[in-house]
Amino acid sequence: MSQTILVTGGAGFIGSNFVHLLRRVRPDWTIVNFDALTYAGNLENLRALERDSRHLFVRGDITDAAAVQACFEQHRPQLVVHFAAESHVDRSILGASAFVNTNVLGTQVLLDASRAAKVERFLHVSTDEVYGSLGATGLFTEETPLSANSPYSASKAGSDLLVRAAFHTHHMPVLTTRCSNNYGPYQFPEKLIPLMITNALEGKKLPVYGDGMNVRDWLYVEDHCTAILRVLEAGAPGEVYNIGGNNEMPNIEIVRRVLREIGKGESLIEYVKDRPGHDRRYAIDASKIERELGWRPQWTFEQALPLTVKWYLANRDWWQRVKSGAYQEYYRQQYQGRG
Ligand code: NAD
Ligand code: DAU
Repeated sequence: MSQTILVTGGAGFIGSNFVHLLRRVRPDWTIVNFDALTYAGNLENLRALERDSRHLFVRGDITDAAAVQACFEQHRPQLVVHFAAESHVDRSILGASAFVNTNVLGTQVLLDASRAAKVERFLHVSTDEVYGSLGATGLFTEETPLSANSPYSASKAGSDLLVRAAFHTHHMPVLTTRCSNNYGPYQFPEKLIPLMITNALEGKKLPVYGDGMNVRDWLYVEDHCTAILRVLEAGAPGEVYNIGGNNEMPNIEIVRRVLREIGKGESLIEYVKDRPGHDRRYAIDASKIERELGWRPQWTFEQALPLTVKWYLANRDWWQRVKSGAYQEYYRQQYQGRG
């Protein structure tokens, strides 16, 4: 059935990949893309949809209740997928207020507008970081208590609880997904994989925090997007679904593989001062979404890392523009004197 879907944060990394996926697999849906275009939002990610009459871009801030309400009144979406967030842990350590505003307050503004508009489904895109940090063994399940450690993950945990409250108090048809680390096209080069790819291509040092042995579970962004669509269409209201790639790897191994893929030597690696409060290990038990909704990742790291490197090689203009201007100041603040 033809639907109107409101996607928040659809000019960012995962949001723009999701919009492109929807265009391919749900061509009759109208997509209303609501995004403030912060440093992380980029209309270039959506260039292919410029002439698409079923993709409507609205520049707006989710903390602005009047703008959000106007958007609902004008477009009357039945579905909401909520990506918009401040998403980078290091930036949340430099300053947390934008994280509290967008991730906590902004989520409540959207919930209020969605409730008033009686939307049929509201999917909140969250993160495995809300569960805190694991030791050498074990996996996060949907029952793992929330134990966020960074200002970023604490603000995401706050938003998860507001979404939970909307279900319990107001019986809203909400769904929450908690995913592990994504990689792929259009990822802002502040995150590990695109930072390492682009620094290596520029012949710059690759800054590895601490001993490089922190572990993350890596998922190709297209797999995350297919999981979100599956949960949106088939998930049970009020439920949480973990999404993961079954692909745990220490950071240093990721960096070595990036260098091998690009054909550069390991002398570019530079161990630098650790991230404060750096979570040691994340690992996801994604058996619920596999069992209940039949979703599984389609890409292996061995297939999708080369694709990702190729994308950055083919789109130098994109990341060189992104890495100019305000990025330079962020990079200095984050990395200068850390070596
Ligand atoms: P991103 O930083 O690349 O994009 C965020 C988008 O949100 C940008 O387009 C930005 O302009 C927009 N935005 C920010 N503040 C806004 C506001 N106040 N109003 C409207 N728009 C605003 O983020 P991403 O990596 O694509 O992550 C998307 C979502 O997925 C986030 O909620 C994040 O917590 C979650 N997530 C990310 C990952 C990951 O590995 N990147 C993993 C799990 C979950
Ligand atoms: O787990 C899901 C989360 O993954 C998402 O919720 C976040 O939005 C996303 O940013 C990501 O968080 P991480 O902190 O895990 O990602 P990041 O790419 O910043 O770092 C990955 C690992 O690499 C982490 O252990 C820190 C390390 N790192 C990162 C950077 C930027 C380095 O060693 N050097 C670096 O320069």
